[in-house]
Amino acid sequence: MKPTAPGPLLAEADLSVDPLGHPASALYGDIYASRAGALGQARAVYLGGCGLLDSPARWAGCAQFTVLETGFGLGVNFLATWAAWRADPQRPARLHYVSLELHPVRPADLLHHTPPELQALAAELAAQWPLPVRGLHPIALDGGRVQLLLALGDATELAPKLRLAADALYLDGFAPARNPQMWAPALLRALARLLKPGAAAASYTVAHAVQNGLRDAGFSVTLQPGWGGKRQRLQARFEPLWKRTRHTLPAPWPATQPRHAVIVGAGLAGAACAHALAQRGWTVEVLDAAPRVASGGSAMPAGLAHLQPSADDNLLARLTRAGMAALRRALPPERDELAHFTPALLTPADALDAQRMRDWRDRVHLPPALAQHIEQGWLVDSAVLANAALCAAWLDSPHISLRCHTAAARLQHDGTAWTVFGPDKQPLARAPQIILANALQTPDLLAASGLLPGPDWLPLHPLRGQAQALPARFWPALQQLPQPWMGSGYVLRLPTAAARRLQAEAEANDTNTKTDTDWLLIGATFETEARPLTPEQAWTHNRASLAALTTEPPLPEHAAALRHFVGTRAASADRLPYCGSLPDLTPLLADPQRAAGKQLHELPRLPGLAVCAGLGSRGLTLAALLADTLAAALEGTPLPIETDLADALDPARVALRRLRHGVRQTVTTRLDSRLADL
Ligand SMILES: Cc1cc2nc3c(=O)[nH]c(=O)nc-3n(C[C@H](O)[C@H](O)[C@H](O)COP(=O)(O)OP(=O)(O)OC[C@H]3O[C@@H](n4cnc5c(N)ncnc54)[C@H](O)[C@@H]3O)c2cc1C
Ligand SMILES: C[S@@+](CC[C@H](N)C(=O)[O-])C[C@H]1O[C@@H](n2cnc3c(N)ncnc32)[C@H](O)[C@@H]1O
Repeated sequence: MKPTAPGPLLAEADLSVDPLGHPASALYGDIYASRAGALGQARAVYLGGCGLLDSPARWAGCAQFTVLETGFGLGVNFLATWAAWRADPQRPARLHYVSLELHPVRPADLLHHTPPELQALAAELAAQWPLPVRGLHPIALDGGRVQLLLALGDATELAPKLRLAADALYLDGFAPARNPQMWAPALLRALARLLKPGAAAASYTVAHAVQNGLRDAGFSVTLQPGWGGKRQRLQARFEPLWKRTRHTLPAPWPATQPRHAVIVGAGLAGAACAHALAQRGWTVEVLDAAPRVASGGSAMPAGLAHLQPSADDNLLARLTRAGMAALRRALPPERDELAHFTPALLTPADALDAQRMRDWRDRVHLPPALAQHIEQGWLVDSAVLANAALCAAWLDSPHISLRCHTAAARLQHDGTAWTVFGPDKQPLARAPQIILANALQTPDLLAASGLLPGPDWLPLHPLRGQAQALPARFWPALQQLPQPWMGSGYVLRLPTAAARRLQAEAEANDTNTKTDTDWLLIGATFETEARPLTPEQAWTHNRASLAALTTEPPLPEHAAALRHFVGTRAASADRLPYCGSLPDLTPLLADPQRAAGKQLHELPRLPGLAVCAGLGSRGLTLAALLADTLAAALEGTPLPIETDLADALDPARVALRRLRHGVRQTVTTRLDSRLADL
């Protein structure tokens, strides 16, 4: 086993050049590609071996084509595939390329070693090169038509956590004798689970162990004349003699169905989902009961999206890291007024938090751009976002139509599509795909439609919250705040779009803040519906929470300038959102014993019905990631998050837990009565 850095931070490639100038790895004692030329090898062994240079090429006529690779290395195989795709008039509309890599190279090395004819493509890739951090890193290239998913980490550990259906497999680890773990039978089996039947595979190595491993994993293997002085190369086809039972492959959206969705809810979740689908060419109707977008939990002028470190790189840490990256990808370009990316200062909220943050010092290993310990606390990757303007920007597309004042009361499926009915029982909209992004109301809407036995099968709890906005000049001690702060409360400077909105409202009401362009947002309370705070109580609370930051109070005349905001968060019991398709409970409830023994991915789902709700107090951090994940799941394209993260978000997790709990209780009751009979 080769050494890696502790935690999510990966050791980058220790690239050197051999005496002939070929890139090599001292760690593995091997070169990155044939000495006869990396591009020649890529074309002859990988593209050629998988039929991508045939006429017509293997991908001709496909809507999308997916390549899976072990060992991204210097990306020559990828760049050559991308170039071949560009050159082919019969290319698929989209090329997906998923590559596993444990020691990513530095972008400068990538550019340095790229063959001249691929330089332009390499430059586009290098501009988006991710930090060397474990996890999945989606990169959109060529106007989004080429989607690279870099899976950074040990292939053995990551391959079982991928979800995709590949058409071709490039096997390109360092030589099996020097790096046997890249060719281990278990890894080859894990890769085979990600392939469509009939998928092509290729490799430069013809080592017997690899041939045998591939045959055992369901491939038929042939040896072809080699390239660049090698006698032979390997070509294979995935033709298993057995039928897949437990693992179903993601399927593309059916060509017979229009790519049309109705989304209920125009908060951050609904707007992000609409944007993600519209970007993939869907038409989307968004319905919201409220008079305007961002009205429910999203009704704050702004909020903080931020990475949440953890000592053990837990689910939340991984989700928020992926969330920040997804947010950057989803933000419309050149709209700086919507978002202000700047590290936020995290300081402990209480003694427990202080202990936790001390633990991070020894155990959180991330690049400084993501998390860095400083004297006052932790600086973490973050962005301040203007909620309403962001929702409006996400919904601003010719593919999206928005209808406010439109409440959904019931859903009904007629075998082909869903119809959404209003409270007056009139049909509002119809589509083959529905996404429920209506936060707290989601479980009730499902229960009213007979799709859940009751709202507690997808429980969401209300967490009321209040925050206040104040022109910065009224609080001189905070006016020069260098970055957003989060501790027992938070204070952040409003992005331009949010400040402009407050200023416009002040102008309309002719108040003394009508010329203020610099506003602070101070928050936030956590209240139960049963014990709501008055705006004054909420301000007292939020103001007090800034004690760690300053003992100087705001100027006495601030009260008249204060703006109060209230919203209600929707939180699940485990504080993770619900994102994914809904389980079909009818067959599950008919045989709970059998259902309880199933895994999440084995549960039947309601066709065309998904949720994106329960974002709790992390809607800004997670909305874009959840939308991306949902869109990939609907389209059957590679999932941008690992399957353990997807499972943690799966709305079916509650139903499965309930079914298992019910079965356990029945067994216990039966056992108790038997024991009583003895
Ligand atoms: C005080 C406060 C501060 C916060 N600060 C932050 C922060 O700093 N960072 C962060 O990440 N998160 C923060 N949050 C949380 C974040 O705002 C939420 O997670 C996010 O807004 C949830 O978005 P959503 O789209 O899921 O729900 P919502 O914004 O509640 O949207 C749901 C929408 O569905 C509509 N709807 C409901 N029922 C129906 C129906 N039957 N038919 C049609 N439409 C319907 C509603 O009108 C609403 O517009 C904060 C929340 C509060 C309250
Ligand atoms: C031969 S190079 C790949 C060349 C690459 N396909 C190209 O076109 O440039 C092998 C790569 O496998 C990576 N690798 C080695 N062991 C690995 C492992 N266990 N998991 C993931 N990647 C690994 C190495 O870091 C190296 O980048």
